[in-house]
Amino acid sequence: MSVIILGIETSCDETSAAVVVDGRAIKSNVISSQVDIHSKFGGVVPEVASRKHLELINNVIQEALDQAGLNFADLNAVAVTYGPGLVGALLVGVAAAKSISFGLDIPLVGVNHLEGHVFANLLVEPDPGFPLICLVVSGGHTDLLLMHGPGQYKLLGATRDDAAGEAFDKVARVLGLGYPGGPLVDKLAETGDPHAITLPRSYLEKDSLDFSFSGLKTAVINYLHRAQQRGEAVNHADVAASFRQAVVDVLVDKTLVAAKRHDTQTIMLAGGVAANKLLREQLSARAIDNSLRLINPPLVLCTDNAAMIACAAYYKYRRGDFAPLSLNAVPGLPLGQDRY
Ligand code: KG4
Ligand code: ZN
Repeated sequence: MSVIILGIETSCDETSAAVVVDGRAIKSNVISSQVDIHSKFGGVVPEVASRKHLELINNVIQEALDQAGLNFADLNAVAVTYGPGLVGALLVGVAAAKSISFGLDIPLVGVNHLEGHVFANLLVEPDPGFPLICLVVSGGHTDLLLMHGPGQYKLLGATRDDAAGEAFDKVARVLGLGYPGGPLVDKLAETGDPHAITLPRSYLEKDSLDFSFSGLKTAVINYLHRAQQRGEAVNHADVAASFRQAVVDVLVDKTLVAAKRHDTQTIMLAGGVAANKLLREQLSARAIDNSLRLINPPLVLCTDNAAMIACAAYYKYRRGDFAPLSLNAVPGLPLGQDRY
């Protein structure tokens, strides 16, 4: 019998609900983005996000059911992101999911948002071949994971300061590009020269798989200030391209080192920054050179969506890993350490 899961995602600024069958077939994936509202403020305003989620959540869930051609009675389980994320935003999804679970008497599955990003890949490739190395690059995280199977993660390295997406967003801001900045820097970089400006690449201590992007971000800011003080014209496309190249060089090099060190045959990319054009191209080229298999999430599944949450939940459902109705939002939830 197939397993029909309703997924709910409200950890940041997208209100999303999706219906996924057997962790694979996406019947609907409704995403209502609040970007237009937050871009006026240059970033996500947590209180505004919570209020907007509250306004939208019921309609988004109904729309996901309608698009799937299903009713509440058809659901086998309801899954929700319960961390990491903005506490007020998470609570809206968690409350909705708990009500549905209680009202329908179906299991509640709590999902880690980062695990959701990882599982966006399994929606298209349910048999990735474990163990594998997964690079999770989002607005809040830059993690290198050794994954032995669903739910089995070892954190090999993480950022010590800014996340990769955060660095893209901050550089976008100093270049006056708007919010969210990552896609805009990526697009502008396509027209620039990645070797025009010498920027630092931080590899940290020998053998370290951690990341650091704040020095690079400061170097870009200093470069722009110096040029301004001297009255020199700045080629913004060259700045975007040089910055993007510096970020991607480090991400790709460390991912390859991790795969070699742990002798894995597969590498996987996840999170919002996985949409980055250069990152996909360079990781793909290096994977081919090293006879590694690369799994990329489709572009539509890179940013926050509930289909990835429903997919991650399917594997937990099969293990009988259900959350109690006392489930709470955990803003700083670490991967692989559920807190029900
Ligand atoms: O995964 P996500 O929704 O964030 C968290 O879960 O924290 O990803 C959003 C992040 C933002 O920082 C956004 O600027 C970045 O991903 N991003 C990109 C691109 N598309 C989205 N960064 C670089 N290049 C892109 N094409
Ligand atoms: Zn995300």
